[in-house]
Order: sequence, then C-alpha cells, then structure tokens
Amino acid sequence: MKIDCNQYLNHQKLLSAGYLIDNQWLSETEASLRSSLKVTNPATKETLATLPYCAEKETHAAIESSLLAFKKWSLTLAEERSHFLRKWASLMKENQSDLATIMTLEQGKPIKESLGEVVYAASFLEWFAEEAKRTYGEIIPPHKHNARIVVEKQPVGVVGVITPWNFPLAMITRKIGPAIAAGCTAVVKPAEETPLCAIALMNLAILAGAPAGLINVVFGDYEKIGNVLTTHPIVKKISFTGSTEVGKLLLRQSSTTLKRISLELGGNAPFIVFKDADLNRAVDAALICKYRNTGQTCVCANRLYVEEAIYDSFCELLKSKVEKLKVGNGLDETTEQGPLINEEAFKKVNQHLEDAIQNGAKIICGGSELKNDLAGRFFEPTIVKDVNEKCLINQQETFGPLAPIIRFKSEEEVIELANRTPFGLAGYFFTKELSKAWRVAEALEVGMVGINEGVISTAAIPFGGVKESGLGREGSHLGIDEYLNVKYILMGI
Ligand code: SIN
Repeated sequence: MKIDCNQYLNHQKLLSAGYLIDNQWLSETEASLRSSLKVTNPATKETLATLPYCAEKETHAAIESSLLAFKKWSLTLAEERSHFLRKWASLMKENQSDLATIMTLEQGKPIKESLGEVVYAASFLEWFAEEAKRTYGEIIPPHKHNARIVVEKQPVGVVGVITPWNFPLAMITRKIGPAIAAGCTAVVKPAEETPLCAIALMNLAILAGAPAGLINVVFGDYEKIGNVLTTHPIVKKISFTGSTEVGKLLLRQSSTTLKRISLELGGNAPFIVFKDADLNRAVDAALICKYRNTGQTCVCANRLYVEEAIYDSFCELLKSKVEKLKVGNGLDETTEQGPLINEEAFKKVNQHLEDAIQNGAKIICGGSELKNDLAGRFFEPTIVKDVNEKCLINQQETFGPLAPIIRFKSEEEVIELANRTPFGLAGYFFTKELSKAWRVAEALEVGMVGINEGVISTAAIPFGGVKESGLGREGSHLGIDEYLNVKYILMGI
C-alpha cells in the first residue's frame, strides 16, 4: 500500500495509505489479500496511490468503533462540537492548496474549481458549527393539569455516509458537518475514484482533535460496504449522494432496519430562457451551469429551453463562449474543462450525442473526440440544437459537457416540457417579468430554483430534490434536523 503523489504536495503527511478506524490508518484487510484499490489520475492515467480494499469485516469494525465513540460524543456540549468543527474548517483553509491539488489529481477538475470547492466544503463545517448551538426543543402547553410537556432533540446515533466523486470534499462535509454538530458519529464511504480527498480531510480532522471513532473511513468493495452500512442495526441513518438507481437500492436495503435516510440523487435540470430575458446574463449563466465541473454536477443544466424569438441569437452567443473553453489537465491553471471521470462517463456523453444526431439534432460546436493523448477521457465542450423530445439527452442526466438547446413557443408549453421527467432537483429560468418569475418558480416541479442565476449552491440553502431526485435536505438550518430524533417527554408534577 503506498502513496505515489506526495511530490505534488507541500504537506507530505496529509495522505495515508490506509482506511481509518479509531484514528488509526490500517492497511491489512481480509479482502486486500485478494485485491487493492488503485487510485488514478483521470487526466493522465498515472497511479496516485494503492490503497487497501475494504469489505464486510472492516465495515463492521468501523461501525462498532463509531458506536463506542457515539456514547461519549453524544454527551459533549454543543459548544465543544462547535469548537471542533471550526478548528477543522480552519485547517482545511490553511491546507487549501494541497487539498485542491489532491482533488484535481484524483478527480480531474480544473485547479481553480478545486480551490473553490475546498472553501465551499469548509463552509459546511463552519455553518454547522453554529447550528450545533441551536438544536432547540419546545415546551408544549399540557393537555391536563399538573403536567408539563417538553420536546427534546437527540442525535440519531451512528450514521453511514456514502459520497460521490464529483465533489469529493464538499459532499462529505455537507453530511458530516451536521452529523457531528448534532452529536452523531459516522462511518464514511467515499467514492472509490476519490478516496484521497477523504483521507486528507480525516487527517485534518485528527489534527483538529477528533476523538477516536468519531469518523471512520472505509472504501473498496462498495456493494459489500453499502450492504453492511444499510442493514446493520447499529447504523441509524444513511446519507447518500449519487445516482437515483443506487439511491433506490440503498433505500430498499435500509428498510430492513427502518433507518432514517437522506438521498441526494440525480437531476435533469431544465434551464429556460424567455424572450424578455437579459440575453448576456442568461448565456453567462448557461456557461457556468452547464460546464462547471466539466458538466459533472447533479444540478447542471441538462436541458436548455430557449424561446423561439431569441433561439438563434442565444445559440450564437453561447457558441462564441463555449468554443473558447480551454480543455486540458486540471493542474494547468489556464484549464477550464478537465477530463471526464472515466471511460464509462465518456461513453455515456458520446452516446447522448450520437442519439441526438440520429434524431435530427445538429452540432453547432464541439462534438469531436479530442485526439492525441487526451482521447477517450476528454470530451470537447459541445452544443447541439434542434433537439427533440425523443432524444436520450432529454430523458437522462448526461453528466458531461454537452448542451442540448431546445426551442419553445409559450410559457405553458415550456413548463409542461420542463416537468416531463421523473427527476426534480434543480431548475433555472431567465426573465425580467415579475409575475412570470413567481408563476414559473412555483410551477416547476423541483426542490431548488434559480431565477436569473445559474449557480444556486451555498451552505445556507436547503439543498435537495423532489420526485426521484431524493429525500431530505442538506445545508441550511434544516440540514441538522436530518440527524436529530424528536423526543416528547410528559412529566406529571
Ligand atoms: C452535486 O452535484 O451533487 C452538488 C453540487 C453542488 O453542491 O453545487
């Protein structure tokens, strides 16, 4: 087991070649006698680390360690938990450059975006450091004489946290921040593509004073780990970000022990531009909303609907900006679009493009595989127009730098089209008309709406979806409730 990428970092001790139990980095596993986990750079294919491959046994050990830790952590004062979270966040910011480098190495995103994600991730720890102090209960007027009714909030217990590769730090802190703040402990399973960010984050947690077992980390056989986490009676809550398909599986598995569950799943975001919109503003927002993280975000614009009267000018203006996006290795500071996470992701984007063309769509920029050493992983930022309802791109999340532009004629028509999907995470639209803004915002079947804005994420908002995009909310003052049980106490006096 070894780390092969320390030469890129200032702080060589940030990475450890192990999984974490009781604040010990371990490399022996039952399964690693058979196999190990290779972490590779999606831009270059170089090996960044070889890590142990965890399965059932290690997950059981992690859960038991978290239970022991819970017995003490749940009794700490809110102020102590808050202090720890604040210290952890400030260590993240002190190590911003190394954390961002690790992220770009294993995930591929441009370094500027990685630097931004470190601050975004730390902001969830800061936010929940404050919310830790505000988990107020209630006193309810009693229903009879000589009685008092009190409602308390208590931490749910050990939490299983399963996170994706697209935001390898922020999706951990968005879950762990409220869990730790509430008094819970956790077993984290980061994505197998991006375990190094999780390892570095946990080394900083230990430096910030995390007690043993507060957070344990396992990775490797995701099916076996996921199965233990979702069926183990000690685990009281699952929080997952990832695909709807996997989310449904975890929900089914969690039902055997009736766990609480938060799911932040796939989206198919409509991005609507009405003819009265500020065109430049809409185009700039489309650029960031579609191409941020090389199109690999759940809240990405997936279907761009543009009103007939401005359709051609919108296409031309967006084309002029997309053509200039610089594709390359994310470590190069001038890069604006990195690689896709793996070849499967590349094939999916390509399949959506080919299917759209077969259904009559026309490429207006991009659309070719980048040749040379970038082939098969880097997708040229692409726009297609005249996309119709039959196209796969309309039905599924593309998760890549491919923007389909669809023409519409009326508000009623576009709302009907935008809602014609089982997903409901985010939706965006552009208009200057006040009453239309309210009508459309309320008619879109999504959990989050951006009006004249293409980026909606921040720690202060309740992030989450409706329909098949998930259950529960992350961030905001609501996020901590997902980790608290309500207890009612009746006292006769
Ligand atoms: C996601 O893609 O799941 C998260 C995006 C964000 O937090 O902005």
